[in-house]
Amino acid sequence: GFSWKLADHPKLPKGKTVAVVVLDGWGEANPDKYNCIYVAKTPTMDSLKEGLPEKWRLVRAHGTAVGLPTEDDMGNSEVGHNALGAGRIYAQGAKLVDFALASGKIYEGEGFKYIKECFDKGTLHLIGLLSDGGVHSRLDQLQLLLKGASEHGAKRIRVHILTDGRDVLDGSSVGFVETLENDLAKLREKGVDAQIASGGGRMYVTMDRYENDWDVVKRGWYAHVLGEAPYKFRSALEAVKKLREDLKVSDQYLPPFVIVDESGKPVGPTMDGDAVVTFNFRADRMVMLAKALEYEDFDKFDRVRFPKIRYAGMLQYDGELMLPSQYLVSPPEIERTSGEYLVHNGIRTFACSETVKFGHVTFFWNGNRSGCFNPKLEEYVEIPSDSGITFNVQPKMKALEIAEKARDAILSGKFDQVRVNLPNSDMVGHTGDIEATVVGCEAADEAVKMILDAVEKVGGIYLVTADHGNAEDMVKRDKKGKPQLDKAGNIQILTSHTLQPVPVAIGGPGLKQGVRFRSDLPQAGLANVAATFMNFHGFVAPDDYEPTLIEVVDN
Ligand code: 3PG
Ligand code: CO
Repeated sequence: GFSWKLADHPKLPKGKTVAVVVLDGWGEANPDKYNCIYVAKTPTMDSLKEGLPEKWRLVRAHGTAVGLPTEDDMGNSEVGHNALGAGRIYAQGAKLVDFALASGKIYEGEGFKYIKECFDKGTLHLIGLLSDGGVHSRLDQLQLLLKGASEHGAKRIRVHILTDGRDVLDGSSVGFVETLENDLAKLREKGVDAQIASGGGRMYVTMDRYENDWDVVKRGWYAHVLGEAPYKFRSALEAVKKLREDLKVSDQYLPPFVIVDESGKPVGPTMDGDAVVTFNFRADRMVMLAKALEYEDFDKFDRVRFPKIRYAGMLQYDGELMLPSQYLVSPPEIERTSGEYLVHNGIRTFACSETVKFGHVTFFWNGNRSGCFNPKLEEYVEIPSDSGITFNVQPKMKALEIAEKARDAILSGKFDQVRVNLPNSDMVGHTGDIEATVVGCEAADEAVKMILDAVEKVGGIYLVTADHGNAEDMVKRDKKGKPQLDKAGNIQILTSHTLQPVPVAIGGPGLKQGVRFRSDLPQAGLANVAATFMNFHGFVAPDDYEPTLIEVVDN
């Protein structure tokens, strides 16, 4: 029968303190002035690289290696941390939604039947991120859902859009709105009353995460549900163009707006009897809105009006909270993660990051599950992030505070695994500010040093890796790898993640002589990391885990 007990590793001892460091958005790319990691002074990470090939290697962090639909899909933190923590590759939300839409199964499921009840008398509201980034949502999925919902009886549809510019180029929101407007016009020709009703930039409206700033969600609530916002426009295209021009803000940070009719009335507040679907498949930035839409008892902000709606998520975002209770597509069933195995085998774990990445190294790491498995063996520490700022103004973020907590946890002797996420290269990289990103990378490197020094003191082992690329390439490139210029001849700053591989470095005084990277896994990816650190704890990973990256040679 099934057992949580892990087999002992034939050659590696137990009882070592293992530090697992995840640099968020730290990929490997050619030296270049747009490679902030290359430009930054990173002596610690540079010295680890000298371990190539036995103690330093690259692994794949994008596309099918992390369960995404195609090799053109850049990596992201959700799928990256899922793979790191679970040790296996799961078909991820993006892919599962593709299947459900292509087969039509999405319309036969419980979730769709539930919202369909409202189609006769109510409006169907679709709320989510409007882009083809493929990280949180995808435009083509929204397009198919609009078509499918109208064919299945939705007569009145309102779309509430969050503009991106973070997983895609800044300024691309205009084109996405045009595409959507076209589709809605076609639906109107067929007699469906379909319009965009409200919107705003994803970082300022609705899509906060890990309860960093509830005001963000409150702005979204006012726009999408109450039909109230500081900016009113007759069309979404006008809204996006005007706000960008007049306020000089980028897509990510557009203020909330509502679309009004000729008499100035909002065209699509959410009312009793309506149906709502949040069409993002990724959880972290939809959970807060999902709570506001679903929970009867809610005290994070005053909702003013709490309409009686039927609400479904594209996916269920949190399996532990069962939130939302209704959803259109079942999420990947990520189970038996490394964290769960390790607590069952007595491993005491400390995990830490600052708010904006805290859930990455806990919730995503544990297979999209909130909370810990065994509070007696685990301690999760969240360092509050600065809120209400863009991180290019504070590029050091809380890297050193995170490292201090990790150092103390390592030196305390109370933990076997000390796991952190260092956010700088990703969070600052997403702002598109190259100089600030360089500073961020330097701060992350210093944090790594502090952690490795502690590992050294206790005779421990380290594994330093990343979840996907970001800061190593900050410019959009053509197929030949040359910076691609826009019509005006300017380079285009890349705020998004990349397709680049990420490093894995191992070492520390506790690492037994003869441990080295195998050479027979050139295609290995993030999912191979879990079996590797399980070995460092003295265990062999379960059979169905992706193989370990290391071998132990006798000398
Ligand atoms: C975000 O949510 O900030 C970006 O879309 C993706 O970044 P992450 O995958 O690194 O969180
Ligand atoms: Co990111």
